[in-house]
Amino acid sequence: MEDVLPRRAAQLLGDARRVVVFTGAGISAESGVPTFRDDLTGLWARFDAQRLATAEAFHADPDLVWGWYEWRRSRVRRAEPHAGHRAIAAIEARVPGSTVITQNVDDLHERAGTRAAIHLHGSLFTPRCVAAAHPATFEDRHDGDATQPPEGRRIPPPRCASCMALVRPGVVWFGEALPEAALTAAVEAAAACDVFLTVGTSGVVYPAAEIPRIAARAGAAVIQINPEPTPLDQICAINLRGTAAQVLPALVAAAWKATDER
Ligand code: OAD
Repeated sequence: MEDVLPRRAAQLLGDARRVVVFTGAGISAESGVPTFRDDLTGLWARFDAQRLATAEAFHADPDLVWGWYEWRRSRVRRAEPHAGHRAIAAIEARVPGSTVITQNVDDLHERAGTRAAIHLHGSLFTPRCVAAAHPATFEDRHDGDATQPPEGRRIPPPRCASCMALVRPGVVWFGEALPEAALTAAVEAAAACDVFLTVGTSGVVYPAAEIPRIAARAGAAVIQINPEPTPLDQICAINLRGTAAQVLPALVAAAWKATDER
């Protein structure tokens, strides 16, 4: 039974005209970026990520929240994309009708060559002004350097150069709406695809978790890559139990081999 599923998945992917790849924190795990539900490590362990990632926490203590995001940003800078990220970039390059949608706020898809990832939850690399939500222009004290601010360190957020309001992380906080254009594009792509690959997500945080379900309802073949079962199992045509860095490169190689041999 084991090798039948990957072969069937490779055939579906190889024949697909419109592919959506939907990723969660699990795709960054093998790059050393812990998943969202992993316990916070070190000095951050005493904090609850779900409480830090809120507008209330930022307004109550901007230095603490900005310090946490700067620590996360520097950790992502020190991470490298893996073969799974590169396999997704290969799908985007080879299948004109493909779309990459991520819940992650890191830039590992882009650094692996994905040209147009839809970020449903924003990005660590697009801080914005709290006043007008325009992209913040400010002198980025940490851009480029891989030095890691000490864990747990409070860092005063910069001020927007054009209006002097505080700059905040460009991510979606709990209780905030997702960027409308990103969500609309993701829903449209999910409703129109014929293969939907969901990789490394627990599929429990809405509205993002609705995207794979939209694809399934629209008749797409949903293929899941995750070492663990998730609530998405029951809507998937195929569940590949494995990690992103192991399964994705093998799946993509098999898919292109199957089509190139025809
Ligand atoms: P989670 O931490 O909820 O789930 C990570 C998933 O990745 C789990 O199902 C793991 O089994 C799986 N996983 C772990 N290692 C993996 C690997 N090497 N390869 C493949 N899969 C692996 O992360 P998300 O589902 O992304 O929202 O969480 C969704 C959202 O919840 C996040 O975007 C965040 C959080 O609230 C916001 O920040 C708004």
